Amino acid sequence: MPLIRKIGVLTSGGDAPGMNAAVRAVVRRGISLGAEVVGVRRGYAGLIAGDFMELTVSSVGDIIHRGGTFLQTARSDHFLTEEGQQEALASARAAGIDGLVVIGGDGSFRGALQLTRMGLPSVGIPATIDNDIDGTDRTIGFDTAVNTCLDAIRKIRDTATSHERTFVLEVMGRDSGWIALAAGLAGGAESILLPERPLPMDEVVTRLKRGVERGKRHTLIIVAEGAGSGFEVGREIREKTGYDTRVMVLGHIQRGGSPTALDAMLASRMGAKAAEVLMEGRGGLFIGVKNEELVTAPLEQVLGRRKDIPDELVDLAEILAI
Ligand code: F6P
Repeated sequence: MPLIRKIGVLTSGGDAPGMNAAVRAVVRRGISLGAEVVGVRRGYAGLIAGDFMELTVSSVGDIIHRGGTFLQTARSDHFLTEEGQQEALASARAAGIDGLVVIGGDGSFRGALQLTRMGLPSVGIPATIDNDIDGTDRTIGFDTAVNTCLDAIRKIRDTATSHERTFVLEVMGRDSGWIALAAGLAGGAESILLPERPLPMDEVVTRLKRGVERGKRHTLIIVAEGAGSGFEVGREIREKTGYDTRVMVLGHIQRGGSPTALDAMLASRMGAKAAEVLMEGRGGLFIGVKNEELVTAPLEQVLGRRKDIPDELVDLAEILAI
């Protein structure tokens, strides 16, 4: 007899492309192992409110390619309180949920750990475009967001060259420069401004002028949201160089769209693994990917530990931008 009979699944925090593919995998793998699966709408807020929907094999059909999360997501201040957590637990118990899969980021995993400690085994799947969760090489949604930025960079590059302009592109990453670094490196940006490795504006300007002097017909500067405002950077560049400069803030377009093959695969693998782990009666765990192999680790090990960007890639981006 399996220890877990009914799995609940929720998405929480900022949405990320691939969340739907992960939900689908939890449902189908869970059912294949003999469990029932219940979807929780609007994250922990929905768990408290008992906002549930039964999920069948066919109810998760035709969602693997869709961006966003059909379960929707929300932030719940009430869930941060002990009272809110007790209500969430009671609501899960009343619905017969005896294991929970939480798809989200660091804040969402705190809830999963807390519920596990209170007696509801919960497993975390890392899904955030920011890719800043420790214990995994990649998070669901990161690759799609980087490809969205890359598409924008390549289009901007076309017009920048035609007009011999400098472009500043601000990308997401409130506390993390992963998106900026990956998109900047893949897109051949001249400078990448990261919250983790501040780059003085004088240095940005020196590099910019050097490039123009040796004949570059355009310049592309990527600014991670957490490193400052793209408009501010653009204004300073204009003031210090007099170059024709344009600014673009990519914004929430980075959070939407169909997941790339890499994200849809990662989500499918992680979702299935989470169902398997729960059906083995194991909770309080996190699913990660290391060297393309799925790994599990106690949630305590990854909580509150932001994954740093690699110096090697920062250096490489700089060398290649000469
Ligand atoms: O955590 C993902 C993220 O997209 C950050 O990069 C960004 O700063 C933030 O969410 C934006 O959050 P909101 O959707 O609440 O504006």
